[in-house]
Amino acid sequence: MSYKIQLTEQNLSFDIEKEETVLEAALRQGHNLPYGCRNGACGSCKAKLISGNITYADTLPEGLSEEEHQQGNVLLCQALASSDLSIKSRMIETSTDIKLRQFPCRVTTCEKLNADVIRLTLELPKTERLQFLAGQYIDIIMKDGKRRSFSLANPPHEDQELELHIRYYEGGLFSEYAFKDLKNKALLRIEGPLGQFTLQESDRPIIMIAGGTGFAPVKSLVEHALEKKDYRPIHIYWGARAETDLYFDNVVKQWTIDHLHIKYIPVLSETDSLENWRGKTGYVHEAVLEDHADLSGYDIYTCGPPPMVNAVVESFPKQGLNRERLFSDSFEFASN
Ligand code: FES
Repeated sequence: MSYKIQLTEQNLSFDIEKEETVLEAALRQGHNLPYGCRNGACGSCKAKLISGNITYADTLPEGLSEEEHQQGNVLLCQALASSDLSIKSRMIETSTDIKLRQFPCRVTTCEKLNADVIRLTLELPKTERLQFLAGQYIDIIMKDGKRRSFSLANPPHEDQELELHIRYYEGGLFSEYAFKDLKNKALLRIEGPLGQFTLQESDRPIIMIAGGTGFAPVKSLVEHALEKKDYRPIHIYWGARAETDLYFDNVVKQWTIDHLHIKYIPVLSETDSLENWRGKTGYVHEAVLEDHADLSGYDIYTCGPPPMVNAVVESFPKQGLNRERLFSDSFEFASN
């Protein structure tokens, strides 16, 4: 049996299933309630129960004192609903609402997706979770203190592990290490979440333009939008040199099969690889300009190498795009 949760401050409601915590139900439906550890210890998810009844699976969680409990406070990461609930809680609305934190983490997957891209998954200590907004990135802090930034490819509601797509660059400090020496179970140190490349509230259709591993935050944004039932039309343009560089082509194609509001336009730029290619060719931003003579009604999200992002920033407003509706994340590459 499911119940209804009402968030009084935001005037919104969502369903909760049996044996699901209030926080799990909120995140599953795209509502960013604050949290830290997700195991009842840190108190970050504390909220006020205005009406209704909750239970905890066990005893009172350690992050909530008896006095706080008596005053009607609840820990949403542990609270199970036994009736409809009204709850007063703050909500994470912008990237600045989340505290920047450092964590040790363990590599749980280090798999090559093609000759140049590795998919890395990282597990935080059991008592920790990284709260973030779709589209944000983390820094990996190397032993010498140098940092490398990587976008999170998983959506916020799937935060058991963090997913990164690492592109190989000759001389790249972390990418050389990742391709040559990094193994499962290796320990890393990360800091996050960072960045403001996040999904904006709007009713405009979306064009997403990814270059190479700029697909990583696009994946997070699209999966987050689907989770929160944001069904605006999404056109995904993915620019790459060769077909093998479209390393999650199957994932995007599956989105288009499952969700008719998602369209996928891969664009290849390297002439050697075009012999059997029936799709678009050339620069990815030019493909968008060809397809959309008037960009004035769109929200544009673009992420990837600086020349691609700069080309979008320079050319799209000439075709009607309102600059305030352009959201970008430019990968700056640093070598040793
Ligand atoms: S998230 Fe830490 S106590 Fe709920």
